[in-house]
This record gives sequence, C-alpha cells and structure tokens, in this order.
Amino acid sequence: MPLQVIVGAQWGDEGKGRIVDWFAAQVDFTARYNGGDNAGHTVTVGRQIFKLHLIPSGIIHPQVVAVLGNGMVINPARLLDEMESLRKVGIAVTPQRLHISHAAHLITPAHQALDGALEAARGKDSLGTTGRGIGPAYTDKATRRGLRMADLLRPDFDERLAEAIAEANQTLNMLGAPALDPAAAGAEYRQYTRKLAEYIADVSSELDAALKAGKAVLAEGAQGTLLDIDHGTYPFVTSSSTVAPGALAGLGLGLTAARDARVTGVVKAFQTRVGSGPFPTELSGDLAVRLRGTGANPWDEYGTTTGRPRRVGWLDGVLLRYAVRVNGLTELAVTKMDILSGLKTVKLCSAYRDGGKTFADLPFGPSDLSPYEPLYEELPGWEADISDVRKWDRLPSAARNYLEHISAAAGVPVRLVSVGPERDQIILAP
Ligand code: IMP
Repeated sequence: MPLQVIVGAQWGDEGKGRIVDWFAAQVDFTARYNGGDNAGHTVTVGRQIFKLHLIPSGIIHPQVVAVLGNGMVINPARLLDEMESLRKVGIAVTPQRLHISHAAHLITPAHQALDGALEAARGKDSLGTTGRGIGPAYTDKATRRGLRMADLLRPDFDERLAEAIAEANQTLNMLGAPALDPAAAGAEYRQYTRKLAEYIADVSSELDAALKAGKAVLAEGAQGTLLDIDHGTYPFVTSSSTVAPGALAGLGLGLTAARDARVTGVVKAFQTRVGSGPFPTELSGDLAVRLRGTGANPWDEYGTTTGRPRRVGWLDGVLLRYAVRVNGLTELAVTKMDILSGLKTVKLCSAYRDGGKTFADLPFGPSDLSPYEPLYEELPGWEADISDVRKWDRLPSAARNYLEHISAAAGVPVRLVSVGPERDQIILAP
C-alpha cells in the first residue's frame, strides 16, 4: 500500500498517535500535513510515554523518515524542544531522518500573542483555541503576509520578522495587549535558523519520488474531521485542512498519488471534544465523569496540549457517516473500547430528529447542529475488562456487536480495535 492517510474522524483526540505508531512499523515515511503544535499525539511504549505535538509520531520507529509538510504552521522553538526531548530518550533526530518543507509557515511570537488577545476579546464567544498562534499564522498565510521556513534562510529575514512584529503590535495595541519587541524576536529566530537550516527540504519532490519507487508513505492528520476549516463545525474549528484530501495539498502531492490509497479513520468508541461548539450527544453527570476519568491516568480525557477536561458523549453515527464521506475513509480504527467495559448498556446515535422529521444524514453540513435531537440505538454493554484481549473472537459478544453496529452505521469496516494505551493492546478485526 503506497499511500495511507490516517485521519481523525471526530473532533480530534481520537488516539491517532497510537494507531499511526502501529502502522508506522511497516512504512518508510510518516508525514504530518496540517496544523501545528495545537496537536498532541501520544504513544506509549512500555514505560515511556511520547507526547508529540509537531513531529510525526512515526519517528519513534528507527527506519522511518519523518516529514513536516507545507500545510503545517511551525513554531520553531517548540520544534527544537521536541527534537531535543526525543534525542534525550535515544531517538535519532538528524537531517537524514527529519525533513521540513521549505513552504511550511512559521509561527512567530506575534501569532501567539494575537491568538491570546483575540480570544480574550471574544469573551464569552471565544472559540476555546489552544493559544498556540495557529489561527493568526494561517491568517497571515491566507493574506499572503506569512513567513515560511525557506525565509529563515534569507539574509533579510530579521527585517521581515521585525516588520511582521511591528504590524502585529498595532493590532495588539488595539486589543489592549502588551506590544512585542521586534529586535528580541529577530535575535531569537536567528538562533533557530542556525539549528534548523539543514532540515529544510523539498518534501514534495521527495515524497513523489518515494511513492514512484514503491515506498510506503503514511500521512498523519492532526486534529479531526469535525475541526476542518471547510468541513467542520465552523466557526468552532481549527484553521487548517484536517481531512484526508488535505494530505495531498499539505504535502505537495498530486491527485494520482491517492489512487488506491488506504484511508483509515480513527474513531473513539465514544465521542469527545475540547473547546467550544456544538455536541449533540454530549453527556453530563456521573456517566460523563465515568467516561472522562479523573485525570489520574495519562489516557484520561484531558487535553494533551492544554490539559483542559474534554467534553464527553456517546458516539455519533450521523457525524461518523459524514466523516466517511468527506475523507473517503476505507476503514475504521476504533480506540478506547476498554473504557466502555462495565456499562450496562451503550448508546450509538443513529439519526437526528428536528421537529417531526428524522435525518439519517446531515441535511446541511455540521455547522449548525443545535436543532437536532439525537436518536439512539441502545445496545447491551459488557462487564469484562477487555484490556488483555488480543483476538477478535475473545471479545465479549456484546463488544463485537457494538463494533458491528459502528461499522454498519459508518458503511465501512472496522479493521483495528484498541483496548488500551500500550503498543500491543490492539485487536485486528477479521
Ligand atoms: P486552534 O487550533 O488552537 O486554533 O483551536 C481551534 C479549536 O480546535 C479549539 O476548539 C481547540 O480546542 C481545537 N483543537 C485544536 N487542536 C486540537 C487537537 O489536537 N485536538 C483536539 N482539539 C483541538
């Protein structure tokens, strides 16, 4: 399988990191195509827990070349920290193993300051961003004022950065936020140029050549389908193309690269969301606390990047079908099945009701979900702890039944089921 795209089928935090890690054992390249350090991908290997925000989680496998695509926005300070923390645990992070697109955009201190100031100005209507400067960086990209990785190498980079900071200071001033020092930013970024120059590459041509040579490339999406700038619950979305087709534009690949691609949608066995925005199947009370966990375990439902408690609810089959369509999913990987053990029944939203009408599919995209009341199928739960199960046949029949209902709701097969955070806690579906 030359190109595989792994994408979140919900609002992010589906457990993509561990699914990427599972597939990355057999690939040559793993490539991030969107977003920045707003993402948080967790991989657990024995006692080590890797929390990656920018570098594709595939880098943990020694044969993999990791790529940061042009669709990303990169905070160089955070990237260098992440490179260092990987080196500390013995992972080789060298210019041979890590390639950054020359056309990826840079996040500057101005973007981070603007993200905070704009959110504060929105008050109760805030989007609940991660505060990493993602929106302002993509704004500068779209308005053609952005600075890109290749610009770091230009002799006039300091001046261009100083101009960008001075311009942002006007907005910060209007918003009542403190101004930034353009000279300090210049000095800071000059160090990053020294440390990152060797990693900047033409990843589009590299990946094109790799695919033509029959190498396996795994494109690793960040966030999730419902946070996509075009196809998500707009305006409560991130600012990038999170969906699988975004992998092509975000890595500089043409349409033909996607011929016969395997497109894996990662879906949690229930539904979570951080930040503001609609969530028809949201739960509150004891059941919500039960699904979220207390925060004592690394896999509890608290943001990897921000530590915020996640909102939780039942799996939404209407939104899942939508994710299958806009991504072209060919299969699902269902994560966190073990968390549902011990519930008497589990619910799966199969349709929405608005007034007298029932909708199996979204009539008008996911932006305004407020009119809809979710209709549920209630299925038997299972008592047994399934975290030690490794074979499909050993799953309780109620758990298999639930997975079959997910597959039927989605219209694509469930191929992988994860039953815990460890690398080997995976079951292959028949
Ligand atoms: P931004 O990407 O920081 O601009 O945040 C926009 C929205 O996307 C907010 O609701 C964030 O909570 C959400 N978001 C961004 N990145 C992630 C992620 O990796 N997982 C889950 N939600 C995310």
